[in-house]
Amino acid sequence: MEFNLKDQDVIVVGGAGYIGSHVCKMIADCGGRPITFDNLSCGHAHAVKWGPLEQVDVRDTPALCAAFERWPAIKTVVHLASSIEVGIGETQPAEFYENNVLGALSLLNAMRKAGADRLIFSSTCATYGERDTMPIREADPQLPFSVYGKTKLAIEHMIQSYHKAYGLNYVTLRYFNASGADGSGEIGEEHDPETHLIPIALMAAAGKRGPLTLFGMDYDTPDGTCVRDYIHVNDIARAHLMAMEKFSGGLANAQINIGTGKGYSNLEILEMIEAVTGLKVPYTKGPRRDGDLTELYAHCGHAKAVLGFTPTHSDLENIIKSAWGFHKRVWGL
Ligand code: UFG
Repeated sequence: MEFNLKDQDVIVVGGAGYIGSHVCKMIADCGGRPITFDNLSCGHAHAVKWGPLEQVDVRDTPALCAAFERWPAIKTVVHLASSIEVGIGETQPAEFYENNVLGALSLLNAMRKAGADRLIFSSTCATYGERDTMPIREADPQLPFSVYGKTKLAIEHMIQSYHKAYGLNYVTLRYFNASGADGSGEIGEEHDPETHLIPIALMAAAGKRGPLTLFGMDYDTPDGTCVRDYIHVNDIARAHLMAMEKFSGGLANAQINIGTGKGYSNLEILEMIEAVTGLKVPYTKGPRRDGDLTELYAHCGHAKAVLGFTPTHSDLENIIKSAWGFHKRVWGL
């Protein structure tokens, strides 16, 4: 095992979700125990397999404090629970600000009361906004374009204030595009509704839905479609475990990009899906989606310098193969 978490308990808020369940599995695989806090509004009880579930809503501070009291010795919290779909945030900002910003504030206050002083926060490259130059570095300006990105940036600021005033130790991980699935086939991307490119394209290829709509083919990129940096969900999980190790070494505050440094266009993703599955991905051209940025990919030097992190699972073919393996199992193909 790459990490040793023997006998360590960790609270994973949003542990029933896509990234959360992969983080929980890796904690357990490395000898620790994940305690999932999740209201199951988006996550799935069947994805909580590696430790107990506290069914609690992060916005409900009294219930959250009561849950923390049942795990009094735990110092480390991973916070992944949030509304994530960029397009939906544009039309439902009230829900996004409430779930994300108020939810995080409630969690920070419950942690403070419980004396849990180590936080790994799930942020996003969507906090940076539209830029002329790539790759994106952590010190670049954060001018988010989408409601989703704005909520995550507000939380980053809250966390920094809690660090300064109350001594909270934190690592903020700004993920690029989470993708792929654990090789076991037990867990994978299961959003409802699904809004992400790879699972939607796999559904379209397998005949589980109609053609995919490609949102905008007139972007200023080589093939006219948006470019994203796809990082395997197990690499994201590894970054969390590295951050846990660094807390023990004295790391107290860091903002770190978690990506590969390479961008793929939406059409390149469809090509790889066709190559891996041997199926055509039917698609139609649609208008641009509100909140979408042209191009996003990470500068990865800080992740390597601070965490020692480099991706080991994020070859695009491996990402698509693992996602396809999971969906084939779910669909009984
Ligand atoms: N896309 C389509 N058709 C679809 C779905 C997506 O063309 O049916 C396009 C999008 O317009 C975008 C690209 O595929 O150009 C990727 O879209 P996703 O929805 O898969 O991912 P996003 O980049 O919008 O967002 C995701 C996560 C966020 C994260 C962000 C960082 O949802 O949490 O990556 O880029 F912050």
